[in-house]
Amino acid sequence: PAPGWAIDADVVVVGSGVAGLTAALRCTAAGLATVVVTKARLDDGSTRWAQGGIAAALGEGDTPEQHLDDTLVAGAGLCDEDAVRLLVTEGPDAVRRLIATGAHFDTDDSGAISLTREGGHHRRRIAHAGGDATGAEISRALVEAVRTRAVRTIENALVLDLLKDEDGRTAGITLHVMGEGQHDGVGAVRAPAVVLATGGMGQVFSATTNPSVSTGDGVALALRAGAEISDLEFVQFHPTVLFLGADSEGQQPLVSEAVRGEGAHLVDAAGTRFMLGQHELAELAPRDIVAKAITRQMQARGTEHMYLDARHFGAAMWEQRFPTILAACRSHGIDPVTEPIPVAPAAHYASGGIRTDRHGRTTVPGLYACGEVACTGVHGANRLASNSLLEGLVFAENIAADIAAGASTPVRDKAVGSALPAGAHGEPVPLLDPAARIQIQRIMTEGAGVLRSADSLAEAAGRLEAIRADEHKAAVPGVEAWETTNLLLVSRVLVAAAAAREETRGCHWREDRPDRDDASWQRHLVVRITPERS
Ligand code: SIN
Repeated sequence: PAPGWAIDADVVVVGSGVAGLTAALRCTAAGLATVVVTKARLDDGSTRWAQGGIAAALGEGDTPEQHLDDTLVAGAGLCDEDAVRLLVTEGPDAVRRLIATGAHFDTDDSGAISLTREGGHHRRRIAHAGGDATGAEISRALVEAVRTRAVRTIENALVLDLLKDEDGRTAGITLHVMGEGQHDGVGAVRAPAVVLATGGMGQVFSATTNPSVSTGDGVALALRAGAEISDLEFVQFHPTVLFLGADSEGQQPLVSEAVRGEGAHLVDAAGTRFMLGQHELAELAPRDIVAKAITRQMQARGTEHMYLDARHFGAAMWEQRFPTILAACRSHGIDPVTEPIPVAPAAHYASGGIRTDRHGRTTVPGLYACGEVACTGVHGANRLASNSLLEGLVFAENIAADIAAGASTPVRDKAVGSALPAGAHGEPVPLLDPAARIQIQRIMTEGAGVLRSADSLAEAAGRLEAIRADEHKAAVPGVEAWETTNLLLVSRVLVAAAAAREETRGCHWREDRPDRDDASWQRHLVVRITPERS
């Protein structure tokens, strides 16, 4: 739709999690007129929900090199080592700058930052706040800093599409603001630099740890704008999400890996630990291994969940170290102090996204991406726990420096992978009736969830195509209709990539191709839909 109003800026940042607000603060500090656009309220994205913490080599005896090693192992052969090196070497100072911005982390009696462990980390490396409320504290500190520095913000605004000039360079965004006042309805923010920090796409699946706003809007916009997307098949399922019933849909309560980091055990109904002997790190194996082990146990026993047993923590430790999780469990009638917690895997994190270089540049000049929406190369086929807040911080700072230096050029044209063969996923998606959302989620959970096969993916592709082709056209444009349209677009690309990758690697688990195939598949799948076709 044609914009009814427009404002001008040097930079528009879309999204208000750790990545978006860090980029906005740094751009503002560099003297750039910056506008933050966010779909709900400033603190409503995924960052606020992060529990475990932020990984960085801050502890005695730890080094960026060890953090790099753990990250590469989790990434299962597909990390960009240069990008990971940047993450782990810049990480500790980026965390210190976050503290200087106002975030308070938990400390020990000597005043040193307390560090915990999570899956795949060989050391205590995860800084946390408020026990298990790390994201909430980071969000609080960044929102406060944005308000103190009077950064211009537009809340309740869904980004629609990228504006380009006649040379194909970024010229701003269109957006739909849901509110009252001067900037209501469809408008535009004109700016030569756009930073997408819109977060993930967990709402593609029925059960997810992601909030309802995580509908893949940034990836959908980038696809329509002709930017390259990479690694979309690598969706991480968090192993331990509170099980609320097989028919429970939408955002589900997370039970942080840090609970296992502090010594909780995964057990079956008889109380037997099943991770022993499966991996040297047992319950602290990388996330994909734990999620698969839980799923296998559930299949073998015909149950819908397994259990996380941390009764031995005792009430005082639960209350002090994990108050958020304790409250969430108790609000659902489960008391972790006296009983094991029922848990099952649920969709958690998109390791892939909009392909960027180390400066956060995408393949469209002037368009940047950071945080979960981006594919910087640091996660490979499976993100290491608690690397995502760090990635948001480090790459957002680099983006701000790049924009301030006026240096934006497209991502370097290095061969990083293979193009996903053209197919039905490239066909235009019409504006959809919001009623299609729940159907898309069920199709994706059944066909492209933790366990995938050529058959399940072909069936999912067919059912998604039916939604696109003949039903569910929206009568009226609106935020829910655009969100549903974005969900369908990213789902179709995700399914196409998962079908094309005929192997099992990281968090992509093909039952019909159970082995990792380095000879054919140690490469990325890159998708680009030309703007004319979307
Ligand atoms: C958790 O606390 O288990 C989540 C950490 C993460 O996803 O990085």
